[in-house]
Amino acid sequence: MESTRKDDVVKFENVGLRYGLGPEVLRDVSFNLRAGSFHFLTGPSGAGKSSLLKLMYLAHRPSRGLISLFGRDIATAKRNSLPAVRRKIGVVFQGFHLLEHLTAFDNVALPLRVAGTRESDIKRHVEELLSWVGLKSHMDARPPTLSGGQQQRVAIARAIITQPDILLADEPTGNVDDAMGFRLLRLFEELNRLGTTVIVATHSRALIDRLGYPTMSLENGELTKLPSNEGGLSNV
Ligand SMILES: Nc1ncnc2c1ncn2[C@@H]1O[C@H](COP(=O)(O)OP(=O)(O)OP(=O)(O)O)[C@@H](O)[C@H]1O
Ligand SMILES: [Mg+2]
Repeated sequence: MESTRKDDVVKFENVGLRYGLGPEVLRDVSFNLRAGSFHFLTGPSGAGKSSLLKLMYLAHRPSRGLISLFGRDIATAKRNSLPAVRRKIGVVFQGFHLLEHLTAFDNVALPLRVAGTRESDIKRHVEELLSWVGLKSHMDARPPTLSGGQQQRVAIARAIITQPDILLADEPTGNVDDAMGFRLLRLFEELNRLGTTVIVATHSRALIDRLGYPTMSLENGELTKLPSNEGGLSNV
């Protein structure tokens, strides 16, 4: 028996995903995530981690099964209500997806501008966050002139600047050294303490072991380790 709890922010029930006419790359994926939880998502390359995150940020529709976000079934939600849902989700993409013609500052400022934040507040927030991730002297640089690790840090700053309800980070430390990786994860922990539900897809055993948050594992499109939701009741 599966029950929906008010504090489940993400719920998947028997979800499958196939790209075009190809085979299912996710099969019978069922889990729920409690508000305010922090999970790692692991699994071999090609297991389906990025695909699972894409379903969560509404980049793809499932081929079957049910997905609820913030307690609402996204298949039956009104189409024009989905952009508002999407804006509550911060995403660090595996390939960064920065806008190349905008500076680092303007990339990070973009979600705040969309949200109508005052320009003086934007300046303060963006400068503070870019300084924190070590890019104070690169705020005016455009992404193609930055290193992979620097671009990754811009992408992380952009994903968290609005303090989203859910943060999905796809290999967010894949291009930085361990010290910077832990520093970036500290930002995620800070956000999590303020209430953001965090999911970090990573291959890094070191990161998982050092931070000690529970892991979900995918193998060949199937969830082999479910989220651990403290309190236990919903972990089925
Ligand atoms: N746009 C796409 N079209 C067709 N197949 C795809 C597409 N994106 C991913 N796949 C396939 O789906 C499967 C899962 O890919 P996915 O990118 O989700 O894996 P992953 O766990 O994120 O891997 P990695 O650790 O290498 O990032 C793979 O077999 C991949 O080839
Ligand atoms: Mg991936």
